[in-house]
Amino acid sequence: MEKPTSLIIIFGATGDLAKRKLFPSLFHLYRKGKIGNKFAVIGVARRPWSQEQFQQHVQDSVLTSLGQAEDIESFVQHFYYQSIDVTDSSSYVQLNELANKLDVQYDLNGNRIFYLAMAPEFFGTITEHLKADGLTATNGFKRLVIEKPFGHDLESAKQLNNQIREVFSEDEIYRIDHYLGKEMVQNIEVIRFANALFEPLWNNRFISNIQITSSEVLGVEERGRYYDKSGALRDMVQNHMLQMVALLAMEPPIRLTTDEIRSEKVKVLRALRPIKGEDVHRYFVRGQYGPGAIRNEMVPGYRQEANVDPESNTETFVAGKLMIDNFRWAGVPFYIRTGKRMSAKSTKIVIQFKDIPMNLYYKMDQPLSPNLLVIHIQPEEGITLHLNAKKAGQNMETTPVKLDFANNSIDGMNTPEAYEKLLYDCMRGDATNFTHWDEVALSWSFVDEISKVWESTREEKFPNYAAGTMGPKAADELLAKDGFHWWPVSDFEVQSK
Ligand code: BG6
Repeated sequence: MEKPTSLIIIFGATGDLAKRKLFPSLFHLYRKGKIGNKFAVIGVARRPWSQEQFQQHVQDSVLTSLGQAEDIESFVQHFYYQSIDVTDSSSYVQLNELANKLDVQYDLNGNRIFYLAMAPEFFGTITEHLKADGLTATNGFKRLVIEKPFGHDLESAKQLNNQIREVFSEDEIYRIDHYLGKEMVQNIEVIRFANALFEPLWNNRFISNIQITSSEVLGVEERGRYYDKSGALRDMVQNHMLQMVALLAMEPPIRLTTDEIRSEKVKVLRALRPIKGEDVHRYFVRGQYGPGAIRNEMVPGYRQEANVDPESNTETFVAGKLMIDNFRWAGVPFYIRTGKRMSAKSTKIVIQFKDIPMNLYYKMDQPLSPNLLVIHIQPEEGITLHLNAKKAGQNMETTPVKLDFANNSIDGMNTPEAYEKLLYDCMRGDATNFTHWDEVALSWSFVDEISKVWESTREEKFPNYAAGTMGPKAADELLAKDGFHWWPVSDFEVQSK
């Protein structure tokens, strides 16, 4: 396959994302030979660093992340640095001179990727300057990679979108949702559409409910300032959680092309039942962590975290019941929950199948377990199918059994980081695993109705869950009302082989 050729200009190159994710991912691609020598990176930030300093920084970040790094010297030779003031045209003019020079030096055909890995308030300003100061006037392709948050609500997202659409067309915009780069999130489509076993059952006749959990052990760390204005609903539900719902619920696309897949996902989001007004209290639960013990160590509550209002009304946990009003899913609840400072770091999807019409093995003291398909997104990667089988021996008693497939142990190596795949996709011009504007807009309009109610009613019970637990009791009651319960995430660990 031809290796992609491009100049990558990273805004926010001295920041955390670049250090933790972007440089190590680029290095992986380089080491694997997926990108050849026809690439160059310009790191852009405010700090007055020299090129040597920046190259050292890139090298350190790769070493910290990967331990050892053969070829690192030749890799960092591709990195350049430009200190800029993002509001000042002359900075962009200088940047363009460097870009033009590297274009010739590395034979890059004028291909440019602008990666905005920095505070969102500058997204609009930067894109305006990119055009006004000539950086986008190139002979090759121009692409914009933009990190979340994409706006704060529908209105601000629209404004931002209008601004960037002045400079880039929709198919030149790559909105990152890093969950779409995760191996097992990408596997949802394959599990569904490449198996005769599942697709015929993938509907309201055979599925009783679907549960998606994304729990974190970490608190807000040093992101209090951002998080206190955002909360779990905007930070996780609007993007990652709804994207997983869309992939689980979409119809099979007629082709595996970007447009066809996105258009099926959009249809799911359009079929989401809007939850408004009083219904918000019935369909959604919010939580905020108080102090508690994580691995036997006491940690502070959310309101005691740095840069958080000591009386904050911001949620650090959300559970919700989503209904998709279409033929396939009418009547099947999709339960989602996500939060910080929970007892486990885990992202899992549990598909619970309906009970068989008549249970020949029913015993009061030993009810038959439902069939479950568990998709382990992280930290383990794999799937588990929960079945019932005969207990060995004389009697016809049943026992639950599990069929496990662990992705990482089959391949014998760690699967690539989400960012590695997404960067590579962008370089090749494949936007399938990025979010289209229509998806962003529909997700915001769903979430906005919920924020509206939560912002107008103070939750007097906050904090309502202790750090180190699986969230407030109300999240359990949400399912109990429907006769279900959360399948505990820790029960589903893929056996290490
Ligand atoms: C980010 C959120 O989008 O996703 C963070 O802003 C969150 O608050 C993170 O911690 C979770 O990602 P992952 O890949 O660790 O599940």
